[in-house]
Amino acid sequence: MPRLANLYFKTAICFLIIGIAMGLLMSISQDHAPTGAHAHTNLLGWVTMAIFGGYYALNPAKAETRLAVLQYWVYTGGVTVMVPSLYLLLTGNPGMEPLVAISSIITFIGVLLFAGVIFSRSKAATQPNALPSA
Ligand code: HEM
Ligand code: HEM
Repeated sequence: MPRLANLYFKTAICFLIIGIAMGLLMSISQDHAPTGAHAHTNLLGWVTMAIFGGYYALNPAKAETRLAVLQYWVYTGGVTVMVPSLYLLLTGNPGMEPLVAISSIITFIGVLLFAGVIFSRSKAATQPNALPSA
């Protein structure tokens, strides 16, 4: 598996652990205020990152590009700031709003970079010898 795909799965499982811990905490305390933080930790963290990792595992040539590495750091950076700031916002810290807004926009830029990765032409696809021999 390409290094970047492996890195995405390692990051994704960390967010699943944090997301489920938040879910259990909500269930135990019967305080569902941080539902949005729990949902987005699991969906932007675990689910989306695992999909990104799966894509890079299936497209190893794209995982080697600078755009892919940039995409990982921008997206992961955005989600890493968004998760705790959203949790704090929803548990009664209105001052977190600007941080949630900025980190959400960075996360979105990470998604746009991933669109760039998907639509870019990979080296493997442009090399004639990479085609299966008939
Ligand atoms: C043992 C693991 C989990 C526990 C204990 C848990 C617990 C909870 C709780 C207490 C709520 C709030 C429900 C409400 O107020 O209506 C919730 C909402 C939610 N959870 Fe989890 N959760 C778990 C795992 C997950 C996972 C793995 C995902 C996604 C992959 C997920 C996605 C969601 C979503 C999207 C919502 C919001 C649903 C809505 O808007 O009605 N949860 N969860
Ligand atoms: C930066 C990206 C995103 C932003 C800024 C965002 C923003 C929001 C907002 C403002 C809400 C309404 C929350 C409320 O009414 O309390 C929401 C709800 C929700 N979003 Fe997102 N979202 C993002 C990405 C995603 C993604 C990628 C998924 C799924 C893969 C998703 C799934 C959901 C779900 C299931 C809910 C309802 C759960 C809840 O009650 O909190 N979101 N989102």
